Amino acid sequence: MEGTATTGESGTRSWVNMTFDREMSTAEVESMKRSLGARSAVQVPPEVDAAYCRAREIRFVKSSCPEVGALMSVLAAAAPADGRILELGTGVGVGLAWIVHGLSSRTDVEVVSVEIDPQKSGLAAGAPWPDWVNLVVGDAKELLPSLGCYDLVFLDVPGGLKASLLNGAITALRPGGHLLMDDMNPYWGTGSTLSCGDDPGPERLLEDSRVTCALLQYATGMILASRLPNC
Ligand SMILES: C[S@@+](CC[C@H](N)C(=O)[O-])C[C@H]1O[C@@H](n2cnc3c(N)ncnc32)[C@H](O)[C@@H]1O
Repeated sequence: MEGTATTGESGTRSWVNMTFDREMSTAEVESMKRSLGARSAVQVPPEVDAAYCRAREIRFVKSSCPEVGALMSVLAAAAPADGRILELGTGVGVGLAWIVHGLSSRTDVEVVSVEIDPQKSGLAAGAPWPDWVNLVVGDAKELLPSLGCYDLVFLDVPGGLKASLLNGAITALRPGGHLLMDDMNPYWGTGSTLSCGDDPGPERLLEDSRVTCALLQYATGMILASRLPNC
């Protein structure tokens, strides 16, 4: 069995991310947790695992990690009736697969995912998505203003672009809607933020009066925002 591992520390607790090249049974995961003294493990559903396989096929390393994906699943599951979910940056469909997993047997929610790279979008399109999933090939910067309003937006394009799409992503949120950005670790504590004049980073989301935010300082670092009503 092959695997990769990354490690880290937070206070007195340590974390280890391990990724295996095959699906692990619940019994195996539980046994491994016991032997390592681990308290939790994120398990990857089969449709998500298929997406990670697509990523490996083209050596694409920017897919969402399981911790972020699992949160997306939970947020997707909480979408209101007849809700809409938007992902900016499909990659090969890992985040999308987590969203679809969260929606389970629901058919009332529309999911739109935008990717600029036709190769990656084409690879994602080969998966058996439900018919309420709409994969769009194009530049999120150009398309966002015409994509309508959403209950959940996953803003997952590369860093600089994330910052420039932020205003449009907040504008696209319905009241009470959620916006999730991952890969925020590089920004924590750099002091780069609001003092950067013309080029503030995506963490300026924290300062936006239209939303209330939580910093989620685990996995790749996330900001989760909720759009306030009447603004
Ligand atoms: C971090 S990856 C996305 C990972 C994916 N959301 C997931 O959960 O696995 C960022 C993606 O944004 C795409 N991208 C870059 N610029 C873009 C743009 N202007 N419009 C849409 N997608 C873009 C990249 O090609 C890349 O696939």
